[in-house]
Amino acid sequence: MSSPEAISGQELVRFQRVGLRYGRGPEVLSDVNLELPRGSFTFLTGPSGAGKSTLLKLCYLHLAPSRGLINLFGQDVALLSPAEQQALKRRIGVVLQDFRLIDHLSVFENVALPLRVAGQPRASYADDVVELLQWVGLGHRMQALPPTLSGGEQQRAAIARAVIAKPDLLIADEPTGNVDPVIGRRLIRLFTEMNRMGTTVLIATHDVTTIRELDARVLRIENSHVFKGLDPDKPGNTL
Ligand SMILES: Nc1ncnc2c1ncn2[C@@H]1O[C@H](COP(=O)(O)OP(=O)(O)OP(=O)(O)O)[C@@H](O)[C@H]1O
Ligand SMILES: [Mg+2]
Repeated sequence: MSSPEAISGQELVRFQRVGLRYGRGPEVLSDVNLELPRGSFTFLTGPSGAGKSTLLKLCYLHLAPSRGLINLFGQDVALLSPAEQQALKRRIGVVLQDFRLIDHLSVFENVALPLRVAGQPRASYADDVVELLQWVGLGHRMQALPPTLSGGEQQRAAIARAVIAKPDLLIADEPTGNVDPVIGRRLIRLFTEMNRMGTTVLIATHDVTTIRELDARVLRIENSHVFKGLDPDKPGNTL
């Protein structure tokens, strides 16, 4: 899983001196410089309230930075029109902490939605949706409505929806937070398979065991700054 060194211009995501504050509050993120090389697999960690979800929101254009530059797919996001931002967002799969499934659509329809929105005919994706739902252990719940699912089942449906269209960038916020260890490992394998096929992956997690199991890049948020690696005491960890 180790990614090739970033070649200049090959980063899918680049932050330069990014700061983010909510309203008039203090900066949640300060002077953040980071790069996600194309094809890399990166974990983002740090204590609760450190700013992981906030950093992810900046990456999928849900928030604009208070200062600094964010470059996505080689483009300065501040210069994009709303239509151009929409086009970029379609290249990003997102799994949020609160899932955001559509309650009145079945699990199958929720997962198929990105493909339907992209104008693909149902016959071209129906088998793929079924296969993916079986893979995440929801083969028996395909026609269920999200409010009737457990938290872990909703999480797996949200993950299936995020990956079905094979996004260039996959962003997941605590994707294994609500599932048992067996399903958790299976989901991580889904992410590593996506990565092997070319998707750049960024996952926020508290789960240090999973981070240690995989030889992936790690970014850590501490005191509103982003550092490299899990271990604060190792020299050379400052970005
Ligand atoms: N919409 C908001 N308005 C004001 N403050 C916010 C908002 N969202 C987050 N914050 C604050 O920003 C800080 C970072 O929050 P964030 O949700 O990014 O942390 P996190 O690292 O994802 O935490 P967790 O591990 O609990 O999910 C926290 O102090 C939080 O209270
Ligand atoms: Mg969070």
